[in-house]
Amino acid sequence: ETTRLFQDLILSYYRTYGRDLPWRHTTDAYRILVSEIMLQQTQVERAAAKYREFLEQFPDFESLARAPRSEVLLAWQGMGYNRRAIALQETARRVVDEFGGDLPADVETLATFPGIGKATASAICAYAFNMPVVYIETNIRRIFIHFFFQDREDVRDDEILPLVEQALERGNPREWYSALMDYGTVLKKRTANPNRRSASYSRQSRFEGSDRQVRGRILAL
Ligand code: ADE
Repeated sequence: ETTRLFQDLILSYYRTYGRDLPWRHTTDAYRILVSEIMLQQTQVERAAAKYREFLEQFPDFESLARAPRSEVLLAWQGMGYNRRAIALQETARRVVDEFGGDLPADVETLATFPGIGKATASAICAYAFNMPVVYIETNIRRIFIHFFFQDREDVRDDEILPLVEQALERGNPREWYSALMDYGTVLKKRTANPNRRSASYSRQSRFEGSDRQVRGRILAL
């Protein structure tokens, strides 16, 4: 019913306006890991610009594991927060030394690696392994607060998580979470510029009506 309306809105937005991001062309666990570490504290555009170059230099766990740290840091330049690059290399070394070169496909094990918290571990499971994980991060939080909590500012994660679980599109978690990332970005832009509308925003404005409608139906429950 309303869950379905909500899913349909997010997915149809994604199918029409979804971003073509470089890490959406792969399901390789190493490449997904690199993208998620980059995206922790770097804007999508900046991460996308650096992504291919980094992967050309370090195409797999083995090459990253054996590289001199100075080269890894040099390749990371422009991304900021160098400790993420160091942690990423530590992870590559552990994957090679302890896991035979395969990134483990479960949230708990992934969260034991340096620089990988619960959200990053879950994102890797969704995007690399298409697992139906339930998790929360900035974009996901913003969407659920928008639709289910009237944009309140004091909503706790334990109030949101059951809704994330209920709304999860189990048929294709990879696509569902990509769609949430993109819709979350639209909501962010809308909050930042409620009046000034960019060209891409007005292209998307036909979704505003659907957004209000779905939100209204959910709030009416
Ligand atoms: N933020 C965290 N993970 C992301 C992803 N895979 N795509 C876009 N933004 C993200």
